[in-house]
Amino acid sequence: MKDSHGRTIDYLRISLTDRCNLRCIYCMPEEGVHALSHDDILTLEEIERLVRVAADMGITRVRLTGGEPLVRRGVTGLVRALNDIPGIESVALTTNGILLPRMAGELAEAGLSRVNISLDTLDPEQYGAITRCGSFDDAMAGIDAALEAGFSPVKLNAVVVRSLNQDVLSFARMSIDRPLHVRFIEYMPVGESAGACGCGWGKEDVIPSDELHAMIDEQAEAAGLGRLVPAAKHRPSGWGPARYYEFENAQGTVGFISPLSRHFCSECNRLRLTADGKIRPCLFSDEEFDVRAALRSGGTDDDVRAVLYEALGAKPDEHHDKVGTQRGMSQIGG
Ligand code: GTP
Ligand code: 5AD
Ligand code: SF4
Repeated sequence: MKDSHGRTIDYLRISLTDRCNLRCIYCMPEEGVHALSHDDILTLEEIERLVRVAADMGITRVRLTGGEPLVRRGVTGLVRALNDIPGIESVALTTNGILLPRMAGELAEAGLSRVNISLDTLDPEQYGAITRCGSFDDAMAGIDAALEAGFSPVKLNAVVVRSLNQDVLSFARMSIDRPLHVRFIEYMPVGESAGACGCGWGKEDVIPSDELHAMIDEQAEAAGLGRLVPAAKHRPSGWGPARYYEFENAQGTVGFISPLSRHFCSECNRLRLTADGKIRPCLFSDEEFDVRAALRSGGTDDDVRAVLYEALGAKPDEHHDKVGTQRGMSQIGG
């Protein structure tokens, strides 16, 4: 399926819930978001039906996001159902990892293949401060559980914020001894995260990926690790927006995701589905297309397809530096 700018769209990000078991300061207010009501969110059956229609149109890969997708009851069954849909080649998950020690085995058994785990710091105290209620040990146990369950690749997402002074070399080192793909993400000052949650971070907190890359190279050389080199052999096509590098003899890679300094809009391959059944053509565009109405009230598969095509037609060519959303990241799924 091609959009009006000639890009192949074959990837759908599905937000299963806007709820979360953490309260990251850049994502949510301390009291949590005013959660969507049970009737507002799509049922698992409605999501499955939508993916069937989307697969028929050319979607081959889906990623489950949140909030925290693992707090949604029935997620393992949904993974199994999506995996069984003809045309769906990969079902992936972006999670904070807290529930993986409990759930990784059953998710792997249900056919989940790829897991991205959000972890913004390796300092337990700072982890507690960023997530407000998370335990660093639980997050690390989640990473261990993902590797033990055999997911491949396992990617770590670290949002980099200048005023946090994260120990980026220690993060990068995590890619050496285990097959972990550590990705540094430029902080996007959007939605609730643009100050309204009390984190107070703004544009000055964005560290452009090139600057960060140079910083890591300098620290790595000083530590005797050498510089990062492009990781062509580890980068099968369709790995999404990150650019990947590696240390010599490392099992994993170090990636940079640069939505601001080097946006990847020209290679964008995705549509988004919010938990309340809206298709978003772009992370930063607040234009939404209501597919819930088509999935309910007797809509046919053709009605669902029509909404998907309408959203496809509305995909902008790029974000034109309009980096902002009315909804918070936890309501869109990142
Ligand atoms: P892979 O398929 O594993 O590459 O997943 P991904 O990197 O696309 O997804 P993930 O959920 O791990 O997101 C990593 C970071 O990329 C998050 O900060 C997302 O908000 C960001 N991201 C994902 N898709 C887009 C996009 O289309 N535009 C922008 N600006 N950021 C995105
Ligand atoms: N900027 C960059 N990344 C963000 N994420 C959440 N909010 C932001 C933001 N403002 C990341 C999460 C998660 C992914 C889905 O999006 O850390 O890894
Ligand atoms: Fe939860 Fe992710 Fe938001 Fe943190 S960034 S509060 S883990 S949804």
